[in-house]
Parts: sequence; structure tokens; C-alpha cells
Amino acid sequence: MALTLVMLGPPGAGKGTQAERFAREHGIPTVSTGDILREAVHSGSELGRAVKAVMERGELVGDDLIIGIVRERLSQPDAIAGFVLDGFPRTATQAGALDEITAARGPVICVEIQVPDEELVRRLRARRVCEDCGANADAFERQADSLPELCQNTDRCRSIGPKWVARSDDSEAIVRERLKIYRRDTRPVIDFYSARPTFRRIDGMQTPEQVREALGSAVASALGVRRQG
Ligand code: AP5
Repeated sequence: MALTLVMLGPPGAGKGTQAERFAREHGIPTVSTGDILREAVHSGSELGRAVKAVMERGELVGDDLIIGIVRERLSQPDAIAGFVLDGFPRTATQAGALDEITAARGPVICVEIQVPDEELVRRLRARRVCEDCGANADAFERQADSLPELCQNTDRCRSIGPKWVARSDDSEAIVRERLKIYRRDTRPVIDFYSARPTFRRIDGMQTPEQVREALGSAVASALGVRRQG
């Protein structure tokens, strides 16, 4: 059965970390709108030039643009068997569009990761990513100068060696702006999904391994509801 999993939660909750691990374990792609946009900025494409300043301010790019990107990505053959969405939907308009895009696939499973604001700020200020592929590196990987577990481009990153940088939108001021925008624009998306039987909440204040287990249980329980429905 094709799986449509949406990871919800504020900046720094661990959506990307968990989405990548879950997708790898289940052999399905992660569709991260943040990664798609950052790659575009990195490559200097027309899309990248259009969104760079917006992202650096921590604001959201326009709904029409992002919905077009997701619609196109989800039409690719590798998404037929399922996918994990990370960073989309973030507005009520995007959530409505996702329902329309996935109408023929059955219900969407949504998991919200909950983490208090001060911990989010702490995590994002401490975050370092590979300058080339954008993969997150934990402190142990950085100390060992080894490739991140979720390296996106192993051959190239190995040949040039990992270089860790802060994301341009991870300064404290911009993180607080992103949290404000999250509360204003994305909380309504949680309300949109929370009444559905396939919505689950998990505690993000656990180790990444414990969150991974909680996510697996949440998806299994939501799939059970879906099969009965
Ligand atoms: P995006 O890249 O989606 O950023 P975000 O939602 O703000 O989320 P983050 O990537 O910052 O956090 P995360 O929850 O994925 O946490 P992570 O796993 O990395 O979007 C960036 C920008 O792109 C937006 O601001 C906007 O401009 C634009 N954009 C993207 N999508 C859009 C859309 N749909 N519409 C409009 N605009 C859009 O973890 C964070 C850190 O915590 C890491 O260092 C990690 O190692 C650590 N960590 C993870 N889990 C744990 C744990 N359990 N315990 C301790 N540390 C942990």
C-alpha cells in the first residue's frame, strides 16, 4: 500500500532527521521543500535567485510556487510507492492542495513532532550542515571529520572532505522569526489535520532513536486506522 506521510512540527523539531531515516528504512523518497529550495539557491538557478532573500529572512516562499514544485516532484515514478513530506504543507492553502494532489492515494498520515521553543532555538543555533550537500552532522561526526550519516552525495563529499557550516537562516534572530511565522501560518495546518483519524503527535524531547521508534509506532497505528476505514 502506498504510504503518504507528512512530518509536521516547528523549525528544529527533527522533521528532516526523522523523515530521512524513515524514508531510507522504507525504501521511499523524502520530499523536503527546504532541501529543494536550498539546492536551487546553491546551484544559482532562476528558482534559487527568486527565493534566496525570502529564505534568508526566514519567511515563506509563495504558495503557488511551492505547490507547483511539490506537484511536479510527486508525479515522478519513484513517488508512486509512497513518500515522506518534510516542510510541506506549511499553510492552509498548501494543505488543501496536498489533499487534491493525493486524492487518489487515500488518506494522508500526519505526525506532529512537539518540542518547546527554547530547545528549538538551542538546536538550530548548534546545527551544522555539510556545505556541499546540506546534510546535518552531529557532534560526533564533526569531531571525527567523517561524512554525515545522511550524506546526500557521498562520492563528491568524500573527495572534497566535509566542511561544516551554519545554515544561513539559523541565527537566533531568524530562528525566532521562523517560529513566529510557524505559529501564525503553520499552526492552522495542524488544526486542519488534527481532527483526522490518521493524525498523531509524538514527543520530540527524546533521543533521536527514541523519536524514531515513536514515529514508527505512530505510523503503524495510523495505518491500522486506515486499513479499517
Ligand atoms: P525547512 O528546511 O523546511 O526548515 P524548517 O521547517 O524550519 O525545519 P528545519 O530544517 O530547520 O528543522 P527540522 O524540523 O527539519 O529539524 P532537523 O531534523 O534539521 O525550510 C527552510 C525555509 O524554506 C523556510 O523558512 C521557507 O523560507 C522555505 N520553505 C520550505 N518549505 C516551504 C513551504 N512549504 N512553503 C513556503 N516556504 C517554504 O533537526 C534540527 C537540529 O536538531 C539538527 O541539528 C539535528 O541534529 C538536531 N536534532 C534532531 N532531532 C533531535 C533530537 N531528538 N534531540 C536533539 N537534537 C535533535
